[in-house]
Amino acid sequence: MSAVPRRSRPTEYDVGESPKIGPHPLLDHLYEGDCRQILPLFAPESVNLVVTSPPYADQRRNTYGGVAPDDYVDWFLPISAELYRVLRPDGSFVLNIKERVVRGERHTYVIELILAMRKQGWLWTEEYCWHKKNCYPGKWPNRFRDSWERCLHFTKERRFAMYQDAVMIPVGNWAETRLRSLSETDKRRDESRVASGFGKNVSNWLGRKFVYPTNVIHLATECGNQSHSAAFPVGLPAWFVRLFTVSGDVVLDPFMGSGTTAVAASQLGRYYVGIETQSEYCTQARQRTAQARLLETPSEYE
Ligand SMILES: C[S@@+](CC[C@H](N)C(=O)[O-])C[C@H]1O[C@@H](n2cnc3c(N)ncnc32)[C@H](O)[C@@H]1O
Repeated sequence: MSAVPRRSRPTEYDVGESPKIGPHPLLDHLYEGDCRQILPLFAPESVNLVVTSPPYADQRRNTYGGVAPDDYVDWFLPISAELYRVLRPDGSFVLNIKERVVRGERHTYVIELILAMRKQGWLWTEEYCWHKKNCYPGKWPNRFRDSWERCLHFTKERRFAMYQDAVMIPVGNWAETRLRSLSETDKRRDESRVASGFGKNVSNWLGRKFVYPTNVIHLATECGNQSHSAAFPVGLPAWFVRLFTVSGDVVLDPFMGSGTTAVAASQLGRYYVGIETQSEYCTQARQRTAQARLLETPSEYE
């Protein structure tokens, strides 16, 4: 396996470049500490992409603490304000989160957070759905098994860096059968019958090997990572790293846990910056990133 070549390091990240704001963030570095204290050390507009999964409200009190659902928005807003400051104008922030059930109904803190972040200046550009292919088995009297999580996509600007070709997927077997005999309608633009303005020309698919994916990402949850109870699979941050960055860009995870985002960034030839309060997770993340560097492998579609 060969390493993904990196672009030369952009000058604005060079250590000592700005004596006023200091040398942070250090690239390919894992900071041990509280992101509320560490993010303010970072230079403005120094990060291309933030991908993170913060502690969910109250859920892991016994392992790494939690925030009460009613306090969640007030707790998160100073952090999102710092993320806004450190993100480049064409950057993206992907927030993996899911509202928990409180007293028999879904709490509204995620919805309230989206509204509050919009007031902070963020654009709620898209919502990707992570379909967890191997969700927990079980039965509840008032709902079914929870098999998806939100990946909220926030940006600072309407025009932002996005490399859609990097996440194209094989067109699939259906195309061969469907495209074998095209009708006359298939060969021209077929307008929607409900006059929605949408239309399709099936013949456009002829000869295509790859197509763009949907906003639903189908990935199994992480089962092999024994030392973090809430790790996401490497494939999740990797998908967003491919979509929103190029080699040499900087990817930040302020709630790094076992270092999954850093592993994905490193494997794809991007710089990573991680922050984590718990020293045992930092140790694990350092081990994983050291290993990832040895196994750096080019992205399938780059
Ligand atoms: C949901 S886990 C992230 C798991 C990670 N995505 C992974 O794949 O391993 C959230 C992490 O945030 C850490 N954390 C909680 N509060 C923090 C804070 N204020 N600053 C930095 N890290 C924090 C927790 O210790 C926990 O490891």
